[in-house]
Amino acid sequence: MSATTSPAASAERPMIDSFGRRISYVRMSVTDRCDLRCRYCMAEKMTFVPRQDVLSLEEIVALADIFIARGVKRIRLTGGEPLVRKGIEHLIGALGSRLGNGLDELTMTTNGTQLGRYAETLRSAGVRRINVSLDSRDPERFRHITRRGELAKVLAGIDSAADAGLKIKINMVALHGVNDDEIAAMLRWCGSRGFDLSLIETMPLGDVEDDRTDHYLPLSAVKASLDREFGLIPSLARTGGPARYWDVDGLGIRLGLITPLTNNFCAGCNRIRVAATGTVFGCLGHDQKVELRDLLRSGGRDAVDGALDRLLAGKPERHAFRIDAAAPAVARHMSVTGG
Ligand SMILES: C[S@@+](CC[C@H](N)C(=O)[O-])C[C@H]1O[C@@H](n2cnc3c(N)ncnc32)[C@H](O)[C@@H]1O
Ligand code: SF4
Repeated sequence: MSATTSPAASAERPMIDSFGRRISYVRMSVTDRCDLRCRYCMAEKMTFVPRQDVLSLEEIVALADIFIARGVKRIRLTGGEPLVRKGIEHLIGALGSRLGNGLDELTMTTNGTQLGRYAETLRSAGVRRINVSLDSRDPERFRHITRRGELAKVLAGIDSAADAGLKIKINMVALHGVNDDEIAAMLRWCGSRGFDLSLIETMPLGDVEDDRTDHYLPLSAVKASLDREFGLIPSLARTGGPARYWDVDGLGIRLGLITPLTNNFCAGCNRIRVAATGTVFGCLGHDQKVELRDLLRSGGRDAVDGALDRLLAGKPERHAFRIDAAAPAVARHMSVTGG
């Protein structure tokens, strides 16, 4: 592996796009594989990328070091399901050692099935908060949505994470006619556990059998109803992503609404996304990308930097999703919410 750099290097060449937006946050998919098959995310019979096309753990670390050297402060590991990647504990440890040494925060988005095993590993590596996806607290419904998930295992995983001292945010994809009747109860449960809750609008991602337009639920209506029931106080918190936040009166937690289809967050976009294959996407809703895998394997640091510069030069100003549109390329390589 020739493309290495010191994580302690200063951001001598910050990643700034042609609209002056500085990239400080990277979401890195560490595998396209998953132990679940959520209907809105994956087909029942998935064809996964051949293993040799996926970045090795060493290559992921080398790439993370380049990002850190170029001013990235936050890295979120995602997938597929990051905790099913073999050797994930080594990756978590390696990236954790960059905390305080260029990197400010390491986080993860997980489906929670493996948290019983990995919660302590995450905590001791320096991870302080994680997002856990949970679309239903009804076992039958959970199994239906995920096609194979065991709710009790995920809830036990969440308990392990909480016991380990990790701050937890629950991600719930809001699905019309599937789990919309559970949203208020989920918010109350999150309040009782001290977890923040982010509701996510279904996005046109990936190749799945279900027709997502059937289950598309605009969060504006959900917000109005939660406001009446709980009282929502607008929060100034911003992440540079597609979420807006409210403090929930009396519950002491924050509600996030992730509405990528409404196109209102692009001006503050601070992020890029890396698929498990080393493809880097500048925008959630566009096919614009660069391929870093071969450059990491044989091109050297300059070649990787040059490709990142090309990505930044062409990073679109904004995305334009339609719920009935064909999925952009980013969706075929990785899913992208929950940040
Ligand atoms: C793709 S998953 C990857 C991490 C992990 N497997 C998980 O489920 O948390 C990241 C997030 O994307 C969400 N997601 C996946 N497909 C989506 C879609 N089509 N629309 C909206 N959110 C989606 C999931 O619910 C999850 O919260
Ligand atoms: S949303 Fe996460 S858990 Fe569900 S199938 Fe996609 S990657 Fe797996």
